[in-house]
Amino acid sequence: MKDFLSLDQLGPERLAALLTLADRLREDQRRGRLEPVLAGKVLAMVFTKPSLRTRVSFDVAMLQLGGQALYLSPAEVGLGQREAVADVARVLSGYVDAVMARVFAHADVVELAAQASVPVINGLSDRFHPCQGLADLLTVRDTFGSLAGRRLAYLGDGNNVAHSLLLGGALSGMSVSIIHPEGYGPDATVLARAAALARMSGGAVESTSDLAAIDGADVLYTDVWASMGQEEEAASRRSAFLPYRLDEACIARASAHVIVMHCLPAHRGEEISAGAMDGSAARVFEQAENRLHAQRALLAWLVGGAPLLG
Ligand code: CP
Ligand code: NVA
Repeated sequence: MKDFLSLDQLGPERLAALLTLADRLREDQRRGRLEPVLAGKVLAMVFTKPSLRTRVSFDVAMLQLGGQALYLSPAEVGLGQREAVADVARVLSGYVDAVMARVFAHADVVELAAQASVPVINGLSDRFHPCQGLADLLTVRDTFGSLAGRRLAYLGDGNNVAHSLLLGGALSGMSVSIIHPEGYGPDATVLARAAALARMSGGAVESTSDLAAIDGADVLYTDVWASMGQEEEAASRRSAFLPYRLDEACIARASAHVIVMHCLPAHRGEEISAGAMDGSAARVFEQAENRLHAQRALLAWLVGGAPLLG
């Protein structure tokens, strides 16, 4: 496997092994024993949208593994505008050992991967956010010890983050419900793919507008109602999404040991109440930190050739 564009590319065994490697590298880091498996390697980070977590966690991961990351801002590269995506891919392949790209159209990261001779990692597209999904699964595993059989209820937009949770949860034998206002559900193709994966893993997926799917959930998750690029829709979306806010009432309906997750950035008082975001069930900052640990494993494996452990 050369590229990492969506979680289903991994399959269930490699996904589980990657989480195990993330766990091990986190322990190594805490003991000050990280090996420089990426010494001399350079990651180009191409951004067409803003970022805090993705930019910093990839940058730090490369540094900690002995390599280096280059931040390329939207204005510098002009992906698909100043220069064709395929040309950017071929030029960068001559300079660096891997490319991480945050794009609008998923087709752009697919094209980058097709044209690059080095690994390409999807750092968020309009369709998937697989690096976030990896960190999310790691966070659920940290809390509950395992993933299979856990129930995750995602409230809000059937967007890139929801899609990655569907695929990652389905691969891991989890039960994932995307609970959304009418007209804002996940893409039918992604849902069908996740359903097929869930049939093999013993998991389950559903797309519903019924808030009853919250009942008994182990994990409550939400994301912004208007993603990057949808800013103009923010006002019209607000009224549709209001009943789907993750708040204390949702927490009361979930299981007693529920954890609250959000990929961040969050808007307190919109998709999540301040009480839910800052309350004792919240794992949002552990989740954000896990971006670093998950991506260190991803880079060590994909770019550094580190073996995946069973
Ligand atoms: N969750 C996440 O991807 O955050 P950034 O947009 O800040 O990278
Ligand atoms: N769905 C959000 C996720 C941000 C990390 C977006 O695409 O803007």
